[in-house]
This record gives sequence, C-alpha cells and structure tokens, in this order.
Amino acid sequence: MKQSTLKAAVLISGTGSNLKALIDAIAEACLDLNIVRVVSNRAQAPGIVHATTAAIPVSIISHIDFPDRQSHDAAVAMVLQQSGVELIILAGYMRILSEDFTRQFSGRMINLHPSLLPLYKGLDTYNRVLQSGDSETGASIHFVTSGLDSGPVVTQVKLPVLPGDDADSLKARLGPLEHKLLIATVDLFCKREITYQQDAVSYRGKIINRPLQLKPDGSFF
Ligand code: GRF
Repeated sequence: MKQSTLKAAVLISGTGSNLKALIDAIAEACLDLNIVRVVSNRAQAPGIVHATTAAIPVSIISHIDFPDRQSHDAAVAMVLQQSGVELIILAGYMRILSEDFTRQFSGRMINLHPSLLPLYKGLDTYNRVLQSGDSETGASIHFVTSGLDSGPVVTQVKLPVLPGDDADSLKARLGPLEHKLLIATVDLFCKREITYQQDAVSYRGKIINRPLQLKPDGSFF
C-alpha cells in the first residue's frame, strides 16, 4: 500500500535555492512531498518567489515585529501547528531557535548546514575550512535540538577543497551538492526510513552511529 504523502514546511531567510530544488524535484515527480507552507522571517527574502510561483502558502513572520526570540518562535510554532506538518525543513533559516521551539518539534525538524558537522558549527564555515587547511569539506543534515547545529547528523555529502579555492568557489561548488543532499534526505523521510530515537538517528529501524554519506548517484552508503 502506498504511504501517504509527507506534509512539510520549509523555513527560509534568504535566497531559497534549496527550497527551489525541493519544489523542482516534486514537480518532476522525483519526490513525493507536499510542501504545505513556507515561512520566512524576512519580508524581502528572495526565496519567497519560489513558493508563490508554485502556489505554496507563505507566512512572513518577521522577527523585528516581536519583542523577543520566544514570542517570535511562538508565532512561527503556531503557524506550523496549524499547518499539520510532519516535517519541518530549515533551509537557510538564519535564526537561533529557542529551547521551547526545538523541544516542541523534536524529531520532526531538520537543518541543512554547510560543513561536515560536528566541524564548524555556526557561521562563516567556508573561510574557517580554508583557514584550517582542511582537504575536504561538505554539508550535513541534522535533527534540530537545542544546541546550535548540534543535533544528531542524518546525512552528509563531501567535497574536496582544491588548490586556489576561496570561500566563493567553495560555496559555488557546494551549492548543487547541498540541493542533491536535501532532496535525497527528504526522500528518506518521505519513505519513513528515518526516525529520531533518543537523541540518535534510526535508519530502516536500526540506530546508525555515523551519518549516511551521499553517493554521486543520489543513494547513500
Ligand atoms: C545553505 O548553504 C545552507 O547550508 C545554509 O544556508 C544556505 C541556504 O541557501 N544553512 P539557500 O537560501 O537555500 O539558497
């Protein structure tokens, strides 16, 4: 029997290229996902247009309209609860989240981060990779917990650092890989192959002790 289509919300703050990648994958029937709502904390986020073009309802909940983090997060949480979403995808949502918010959506919220976590949590990951002289970097998708970029990592994709790379060239090469990683990872959620269990990732019913690694063909090892 076919599983029901997973209902998700995507939270953005900026360009929204990852949101667009998800929308395109759905349109091409590569992903059985229903994005029921997009939330942006910035009214001017260029990514909003991807949602409106695809007729996805958008909530602009600007953090500057709220006195503090808790009240802003509570407003976002209310919209998410009302949308009945099963998965919340943070795709370039540039907000530190309150503990109440992360607890409320524990096990149902994932974040895309441009480094091989646990390395380089936080911002400016490309320059920090270059300054450290690392030979590779990549992107990670993790369950969101109260610590910044700290929840259990579900999947990763790796990218070699090349001689002469700067932050812009790394970002340009990582972008398309992030899109692939996000689509392939969300597909695992759509197929109900990933769950969150006691601060760990369960894949096909078994706890995994290292993140799944994306292969060029879009599968994982
Ligand atoms: C991505 O690099 C992601 O890793 C980070 O924010 C960026 C979002 O890009 N969290 P976009 O807005 O989806 O283009």
